[in-house]
Amino acid sequence: MTLKLKRTPGLYLVGFMCSGKTTVGRALAEQLGWCFVDIDSEIEAKQEKTIRRIFEEHGEAVFRDIETDTLRDHVTKVEAGRPCVFALGGGAFVQPRNWELIENNGVTVWLDCLLDTILQRLGDDLSRPLAADREQLAQLYGDRRPLYSRADFRLEVDTDDVEAIVKKILDLPIF
Ligand code: S3P
Repeated sequence: MTLKLKRTPGLYLVGFMCSGKTTVGRALAEQLGWCFVDIDSEIEAKQEKTIRRIFEEHGEAVFRDIETDTLRDHVTKVEAGRPCVFALGGGAFVQPRNWELIENNGVTVWLDCLLDTILQRLGDDLSRPLAADREQLAQLYGDRRPLYSRADFRLEVDTDDVEAIVKKILDLPIF
């Protein structure tokens, strides 16, 4: 295991909506025997509201504050030595205030997915507030790429083969 991961055993999956962070993260954590934290699910459980409702009732800025607080709470557990795989919401890694928190506490992996694949996976899903307008979504996709590229590793993941993606992660020179 690299020194970085040895010091704070957090593995953070970042990337755009529908790039497979949750599905891959859960399977990876199972293989590693690490705990799995899906930040969006944690937010919904704690707030007892869907993300869509949080956006509707309080707006994006409040959601981002909750997201950072949730992330901080869980990173504290990693700092204390608990190995965890994290699936971050698509906007979490583009917030500069979250960078330090994440980058100093483990390794980041960008699951990079083509926009066409994302659109296909989204289908008619209405649960993601920032995906409602497909033109804005395409703009967001382009704007965020340079920010995701801050991640320690980038993997192209235009496949539904979860095991193959997990293997790619396990083959990274970090374990
Ligand atoms: C968001 C992505 C969503 C969720 C929220 C905002 C974004 O998570 O956090 O709707 O800003 O890209 P997923 O990436 O898991 O869809």
